[in-house]
Amino acid sequence: MNNEQSASTLVSRTSIHPPEPFRIRVIEPIDRISPLERERALNEAGLNTLLLESKDVYIDCLTDSGTGAVTQSMQAAMLMGDEAYGGSRSFTKLSAAVEDIFDYQLTIPTHQGRGAEQLYVPKLIELREKKFGLQRDKMTVVSNFFFDTTQAHSQINGCNIVNAPVEEAFDTNKSASFKGDFDLEILQSTIEAVGAQHIPYIVVTITCNSVGGQPVSMSNLRQVYAIAQEYEIPVVIDCARFAENAYFIQQREEGYEYESIQEITKEMFSYGDLFSMSAKKDAMVPIGGILSFRTHEYFEVFRECQNLCVVLEGFPTYGGLEGGAMERLAVGLYEAMRQEWLDYRIRQVRYLVEGLRKIGIPCQQPGGHAAFVDAGKLLPHIPAENFPGVALANELYLVAGIRTPEIGSLLIGRNSKTGEQIPCPTELLRITLPRATYTQSHMDYIIQAFRLIKDNVDKIKGVRFTYEPPVLRHFNARFANVE
Ligand code: F0G
Repeated sequence: MNNEQSASTLVSRTSIHPPEPFRIRVIEPIDRISPLERERALNEAGLNTLLLESKDVYIDCLTDSGTGAVTQSMQAAMLMGDEAYGGSRSFTKLSAAVEDIFDYQLTIPTHQGRGAEQLYVPKLIELREKKFGLQRDKMTVVSNFFFDTTQAHSQINGCNIVNAPVEEAFDTNKSASFKGDFDLEILQSTIEAVGAQHIPYIVVTITCNSVGGQPVSMSNLRQVYAIAQEYEIPVVIDCARFAENAYFIQQREEGYEYESIQEITKEMFSYGDLFSMSAKKDAMVPIGGILSFRTHEYFEVFRECQNLCVVLEGFPTYGGLEGGAMERLAVGLYEAMRQEWLDYRIRQVRYLVEGLRKIGIPCQQPGGHAAFVDAGKLLPHIPAENFPGVALANELYLVAGIRTPEIGSLLIGRNSKTGEQIPCPTELLRITLPRATYTQSHMDYIIQAFRLIKDNVDKIKGVRFTYEPPVLRHFNARFANVE
């Protein structure tokens, strides 16, 4: 064995955390303000960490969306931008990359993921209406779990929402290889109950953000697509974290251990008709999204989405992005699939989760992009209506300057028809890790902060609304502590 082989064996065969597989060449200074200043900042933000100013945050684990590092090649590509309004060669490059990686033919760039959602959601509903001559208020859409903006776009277009996660998805005591899987029985029984003609699309979210960054297996993707085809329902792959999902399939699913991330990605996407991507996650760009259709079967819908794009995003060969940003994204899609980076990233999440569990903090099993702390279990004295996840996020900020979001009752929101709170299976706090941004010592600092919190959990108070926005309320809500 040569030295290089023994070095990589040292990393992969032992529990040693792999050293960062990159050099840090550009840095952004961060400040830690005093506890008193943090208290002032949080009060001004209405006890909502999302409303804090970035200058008041020490370690920002709010999201991995557009907040990670970009690579040298991505930065270099930006200089090649063709800023032509129509027919930009940067668009041609982007759609060629999409075709090469995913085997999808018809691409529309968008400013981010929700830009793609606002195009396909109304157009797939219209397609169903035309096909069966139906009324919009009867539509239902199904997902393994809708991300909040996908849910909101479906709801504002009049759809009922059905989430169909597997039973063990939210049980933080249970481990399973693919907790992001679709429950096929719920999918099938929903189709039977409401009728296939009332289901304009099925969304498979990979990885499934809302259940804790958990992956969906290849066999599940295959089966969901087979069911959808049987009932002639289009499948949309919501694929912000496609490379992480491919990585988990490679590591956990029999038959894929010798396949490359590229090969796995191509197969995953063969089980969908269109995809909607927030490129701000795995594709590593600060801004960007993609809507793409696999074949010409949905050409009419694609064309209508292009027309809507002109109104909402921009001309369909730039879709709200500058030419340089499309060039950067075309490179980022490939960078996303680097084996050693995925290895490092997923292990960083695991290191954090294992460190938290070791000191008795209940967590969802490690997935991609974030550690999810079971705030409901850690703070049993706070009922769901007083948002234990928000209370924990606030405490973590006050104790250590770390910013995190709640993923629980606040985020899931109310039924748009009845106004009732949608029951939420678990109250989570997400410690989200931007790509290649924080190092292992930052993880140790986060674990240390939880050590301090753990000694005082009884004193943490729940919160109540002082302002509750009508939709996507976690973004702008304001709170007071419950005495
Ligand atoms: N789908 C998934 C699975 C997402 O995680 C997100 C964004 C979107 C769609 C929407 O994309 O933000 O580019 O418009 N998730 C971010 C997060 C905001 O923090 O998890 P977008």
